[in-house]
Amino acid sequence: MALYSEKVIDHFRNPRNVGVIEDANAVGEVGNAKCGDIMKMYLKIENGIVKDVKFETFGCGSAIASSSMASELIKGKPVSEVKKLTNKAVAEALDGLPAHKMHCSVLAEEAVNAALEDYSKKTGIEI
Ligand code: FES
Repeated sequence: MALYSEKVIDHFRNPRNVGVIEDANAVGEVGNAKCGDIMKMYLKIENGIVKDVKFETFGCGSAIASSSMASELIKGKPVSEVKKLTNKAVAEALDGLPAHKMHCSVLAEEAVNAALEDYSKKTGIEI
């Protein structure tokens, strides 16, 4: 069996939603101390819905694929649902990641949550 699924390779080669949202109202940045990879998520939240999402990931292919998939999973969703996003759901949507690459999907879950925390802090709205 190939190490990476076709979906992982696709999202690594053609990542969705790469970039910056200049007027984002929720930004989360996380890193993994062991591998040194960094992920930054920008969300534009309006009326409790993630209207737009962009990310910058300086990291491995699995981290890029995970952020791309996470961005697709949360776009257009209510924040209450976005808060429930798990790294497992990201990895499953990518048709799996090798065991030693699961931490890359954890980074995506953490980046989304960090952005939601930032939103709560800025607006006083609890999610
Ligand atoms: Fe660390 Fe992928 S190797 S995020």
